[in-house]
Amino acid sequence: MNRRTQTVPEPSLIYSKSKAGRIGCNVPTCDTPEVDLASVVGETRSELKLPEVSELDLLRHFTNLSHINYGIETGFYPLGSCTMKYNPKINEKAAGLAGFAQLHPLQPVETIPGALEILHGVQSMLCEITGFDAITLQPLAGAHGEMTCLMLVKAYHASIGEGDKRKVVLVPDSAHGTNPASAARCGYSVKSIPTDADGNTDLAALEAALDDTVAALMLTNPSTLGLFEPNIEKICKMVHDAGGQVFCDGANMNAMVGTTRPGDHGFDCMHLNLHKTFSTPHGGGGPGCGAIGLQKHLEPFLPVPVIRSVGDTLIADYDRPHTIGKVAAFYGQFLMEVRAYTYLRAYGRERIADISRYSVLNANYVRERLKEVLPPAHDRPCMHECILTAEKYKKEHGVRALDISKRLIDYGYHPPTNYFPLIVPECLMIEPTETESKDTLDDFCDALIAICHEAVENSDLLHDAPSTRIVGRLDETLAVKQLDVRWNG
Ligand SMILES: Cc1ncc(COP(=O)(O)O)c(C=O)c1O
Repeated sequence: MNRRTQTVPEPSLIYSKSKAGRIGCNVPTCDTPEVDLASVVGETRSELKLPEVSELDLLRHFTNLSHINYGIETGFYPLGSCTMKYNPKINEKAAGLAGFAQLHPLQPVETIPGALEILHGVQSMLCEITGFDAITLQPLAGAHGEMTCLMLVKAYHASIGEGDKRKVVLVPDSAHGTNPASAARCGYSVKSIPTDADGNTDLAALEAALDDTVAALMLTNPSTLGLFEPNIEKICKMVHDAGGQVFCDGANMNAMVGTTRPGDHGFDCMHLNLHKTFSTPHGGGGPGCGAIGLQKHLEPFLPVPVIRSVGDTLIADYDRPHTIGKVAAFYGQFLMEVRAYTYLRAYGRERIADISRYSVLNANYVRERLKEVLPPAHDRPCMHECILTAEKYKKEHGVRALDISKRLIDYGYHPPTNYFPLIVPECLMIEPTETESKDTLDDFCDALIAICHEAVENSDLLHDAPSTRIVGRLDETLAVKQLDVRWNG
């Protein structure tokens, strides 16, 4: 059966399989005094209404459910800005080793030299990749890394007696929503900087916004338009001349790994999303790691503990008089660091640039194959993701980018990101990542080309999509506002 017309059977709830008295495990004979459950939890077993099923029924139920779930191991997942690349299984194997997985966060530091070695190793490799003097792995998400960087900027300005006057953070209009949110969370007011017609930062607008109230510019490079900022060194100099600091949103580091280093471009600090670029799994809200890199002048303010070497020994240093304090419990998401360490060591120095080379190549291949049906927003090669516009279908056929994306679900693909960045009308943001083959990209492009033809010939197919799945078109606003209908992170 053709995958566009095939319908998936609706799953039943585990409760519908329940039969009174059926049991899914062998409970050993009780050898302790029996306690009445109701006296402990206030309810009896029957009042709890737990499903009563056999082990096999339970296994079948969850195995069947897993088959209707969509993930990177099920199919192509071109969700722009999210870098949904394959997370190699060897990472999981390493993270599952008992010596790592069973560490207790309160264990005395002298008993965890191996764990410190992992943390220090990831820090050193990320310093080398980004060109920064120091890294901390503590922040638990990209947004948390942004916020931690701004806290360092704040502490730095306070240390040179400029804390009271530097109240403004500049954020380009194409930035991810977390950028202005992080600035506001740190007590700054936010000023938006426009993007020019070529997709670059508008230098005249930046110049006009710079004065001695500016604490920082938050710049995403490559931008969320999938473009490398050609004026990056000039921009950093302009902000520095005005006494501000420059933060790099490094969520798009996949385009640069092993090829070029933000620390060499003039940035003072940046965040990385290990859960994107360095292949630790993400989605559904965590766990993540928004590691940050910084230049020497920000180092005194690093959150504690700082993992560093003293002679031949690694220590967790809490004795830091100028620290901003703690930003996460213990050492951050330790097992994410084990995964990132494994990934980085598996690539090695010689091959690490393959990440950026192939991610940029794949995005440009998709851009080129689709340009007749979905024109790129800017007329120049892209970096790791391509931003296309479906504006003509909206104007001529009443079909929106969202309709095209929803129809992709009928063809068996996860949709790309839509309507971000907001400055591109009817925008589709496609990030193929480096782990996809040409065959997969060709199949995906063929599907999108076919959908664009459907948009012209039979637009209702798109308006009603998806029509072959268990879940039809969702109310997106409701899904955002009502947490219990929100399935994906
Ligand atoms: C460009 C950009 N910056 C920042 C973030 C925030 O990262 P996180 O979701 O880990 O907080 C994202 C996440 O999608 C992003 O795409």
